[in-house]
Amino acid sequence: VEKSLEEQFEEKIANEIRIEPKDWMPEQYRKTLVRQISQHAHSEIVGMLPEGNWITRAPSLKRKAILLSKVQDEAGHGLYLYSAAETLGTSRDQMINDLHSGKAKYSSIFNYPTLSWADIGAIGWLVDGAAIMNQVPLCRTSYGPYARAMVRVCKEESFHQRQGFEIMMSLCNGAPAQKQMAQEAFNRWWWPTLMMFGPKDEESPNTEQSMRWKIKRFTNDELRQRFVDMMVPQAEFLGLTVPDKDLKWNEAKNGYDFGDVDWEEFWNVVKGNGPCNKDRINARVKAHEEGAWVREAALAHAQKRAQREAA
Ligand code: ACO
Repeated sequence: VEKSLEEQFEEKIANEIRIEPKDWMPEQYRKTLVRQISQHAHSEIVGMLPEGNWITRAPSLKRKAILLSKVQDEAGHGLYLYSAAETLGTSRDQMINDLHSGKAKYSSIFNYPTLSWADIGAIGWLVDGAAIMNQVPLCRTSYGPYARAMVRVCKEESFHQRQGFEIMMSLCNGAPAQKQMAQEAFNRWWWPTLMMFGPKDEESPNTEQSMRWKIKRFTNDELRQRFVDMMVPQAEFLGLTVPDKDLKWNEAKNGYDFGDVDWEEFWNVVKGNGPCNKDRINARVKAHEEGAWVREAALAHAQKRAQREAA
C-alpha cells in the first residue's frame, strides 16, 4: 500500500531525514517554522542596534574593528535566516512589515540598553553564549535550510563569544574601577540572558509540538540549566559574582540550583514595554525608509541588465 504524505513526513522525522522546501509538510509545521525562523532573523537584525551604539566609542582601534565586523556578522545571520524563511513561502517584505508594525516578535534581550563599554563584553560573553547554547542543537533541526544556516551562524557566534569573554578578562584584570564596570554589566545582563531561553516549559505553548517535530532538540528549561552550569565556572574564573543569592551547587542533579527569573518583567518586554522596544523599532523603520533609494536603484539596475540580456 502506498503511504500517505503525512506518513511519509512522519517517517522522515523519525529517521532523522531532513525536510526540504519542496517536500510535503503539515501546515502547522510550516507555520511554526516561519514563526521561529522569522523571529530569529529579526533578532539578529535588531541585535545589531545595542552593539552598534558602541562602534564610535570603542576604546581602541582594534576593539572598534572587531566590534564592527561582529555587528556585520549579525547582519549576515539575519540574511541567511530571512532566506531560510523565504523557502517556506513567506516573502521578505511581509516579514519586515510584520517587524515594523510590531506584529512579529524578536528576542527580548535586545530591548535592554548598553550603558557602558563593559556591556559589550557582557553581551558577547553572556548573550552570544546563550545564543550558541540554543543554536548548536538547531544545526540538527529537522528543516534542512534552517539547519544548514545554523552551521555557519554557530561558527561565527563562537568567535563572538570569545571576543566578549576577552573584553571581560581585560576589564577584570584591570583597575578596580574597570573590574567594577564588569561586575555591574554582569549584574545588568545575567537575568535578561536567562530570559532569552523563553518561558518555563510548563508555560511554553510551542515546546511540546516543536520537540515532537524535532524543530527543537531541547526544551527551554533544559537549555537554561545547561547555560547556568556552563557560565558559573566562567564567572568564577573572571572573579565575578553571579547576581543570584539562590545559586547553589546541587550534587544530586550534578548542576546548579538557581533563582526564579522575573517572568513579569519577561512578558512585559515581550509585549513591547521593555526599556528600548520603541527605540529599536523606530530605528529599524527609519533605516528601512532611508534605504528605499538603494532598493529602487538595485531594482532599476536589475531591470536594465535583464533588458540588455534579452536584446
Ligand atoms: N523573547 C521574545 N519572545 C520570546 C522569547 C524571548 N526571549 N522566548 C519566547 N518567546 C515567545 C515565543 O516566540 C512565543 O511567541 P509566539 O508563540 O507568539 O510566537 C512565546 O514567547 C512562547 O514561547 P515558546 O512556546 O517557548 O516558543 P518557542 O517554542 O518558539 O521557543 C525560543 C522560544 C527558544 C526562543 C525558540 O523560538 C528558538 O529557539 N528560537 C531560535 C533562536 C532565536 O530566535 N534566538 C534569538 C536570540 S539569539 C541571537 O539572535 C543572537
